Amino acid sequence: MMSEKKAHDALDRRSFLRASGLAGAGLFATSAPVLSQQGKPDPAITDVQDWARNLGPGVVSSPYGKPSEFEKHVIRRDVEWLTAGKESSVSFTPLHELDGVITPNGLCFERHHSGIAHVDPAKHRLMLNGLLDRQMVFTMDDLKRFPGRQNRAYFLECAANSGMEWRGAQLNGCQFTHGMVHNVWYTGIPLKTLLDEAGVKTNGKWILAEGADSSGMTRSIPLDKAMKDCMVAWAMNGEALRPEQGYPLRLVVPGWEGNMWVKWLRRIEVGDQPWHAREETSKYTDLLADGRSRRFTWIMDAKSVITNPSPQAPLKHKGPNVLTGIAWSGRGSITRVDVSIDGGKNWRTARMDGPSMPLSMARFYVDFDWNGQELLLQSRAMDSSGYVQPTKNDLRQVRGTNSIYHNNGIQTWLVRANGEAENVEVS
Ligand code: MTE
Ligand code: CO
Repeated sequence: MMSEKKAHDALDRRSFLRASGLAGAGLFATSAPVLSQQGKPDPAITDVQDWARNLGPGVVSSPYGKPSEFEKHVIRRDVEWLTAGKESSVSFTPLHELDGVITPNGLCFERHHSGIAHVDPAKHRLMLNGLLDRQMVFTMDDLKRFPGRQNRAYFLECAANSGMEWRGAQLNGCQFTHGMVHNVWYTGIPLKTLLDEAGVKTNGKWILAEGADSSGMTRSIPLDKAMKDCMVAWAMNGEALRPEQGYPLRLVVPGWEGNMWVKWLRRIEVGDQPWHAREETSKYTDLLADGRSRRFTWIMDAKSVITNPSPQAPLKHKGPNVLTGIAWSGRGSITRVDVSIDGGKNWRTARMDGPSMPLSMARFYVDFDWNGQELLLQSRAMDSSGYVQPTKNDLRQVRGTNSIYHNNGIQTWLVRANGEAENVEVS
């Protein structure tokens, strides 16, 4: 029987290299990992690294797991000059560092009007009042005892996402141009369940959702939408909501602008008309060229962006490369994404991989060969309603340039011969 020591030696990296002949440079002409490009031995191959020599930290050394220390750059970022302070501000999702369709909880962009409310769930209540048969108050425990619990993946996009780009290319990186979007699994119950429990009176046509933070955020939502697919959710991606995302309870308003997804949800009032709160009059309305404003632009239209390559993620190698990006639509599921490398003259259909669920983010790829030529990269999303993502200029024709909200125009990245990418526009 082999001793434990011998067994270990047999698996030792050096003996493995000796046994396979890889330790002798040049034995395998077709695989050249032993010598670096300068012709010197590559220490990543020839040296035994510390992590292979020493014991690592034991279990529970990080009771709540964190990403590798080598991923420190994968963080939410803000744009200092965008807002006067950090409490009424926004941080952006690092889209160029992510893959697949789910946003990790710690990287979801944040948008607060009065900072993060730290709510004690034992003291949190959800009140239902207004045009109801019964006014009701629920604790978190009450909510978690309701039948009909659901799990749904939905994107949330702030109406101000890409808002800086209305009048021309501004910010250099998809994190900043498109990073006010995230896509997570929500667990909760349909809002309809609660409204049915309280009994909506026949003249009840609207709901008002109110947050418990000091901004006292309120939004009016038509009863039809509230009954159709809105949720009150307490979990994201399988664990409790993060404080930043509205712990312990948030409203989920699938496909509609992020502002309506009231965080730290404390009250639902039923009324017979909209309230015309600040966030649906002075804010989140689109001022058109003729001075009129679009009222209640709730649905987020189909949009996409190439996340790699992009200004924060340049091309590093010629030859085979993987282009990737994300797409979403508030009108249904993403059915197709086309990609252009010549600024929209020619298009090819990207490969979708992963689920393409309604009102949830989809992922696309184009596997391509780069010979070092300049590229003008664009992506164009199509959804199950037949809607096609417009160019920025098409959008400006209809909406002018006064608005900062609801910009879903096609993004262009110029990739230079050295692989660096820049936010540009093509006419
Ligand atoms: N809810 C409350 N109570 N307070 C807020 O400031 N911000 C809104 C919305 N809900 C906000 C809120 C806005 S403008 C957006 S875009 C989303 O929450 C952002 O959600 P997130 O922070 O989870 O990304
Ligand atoms: Co918002």
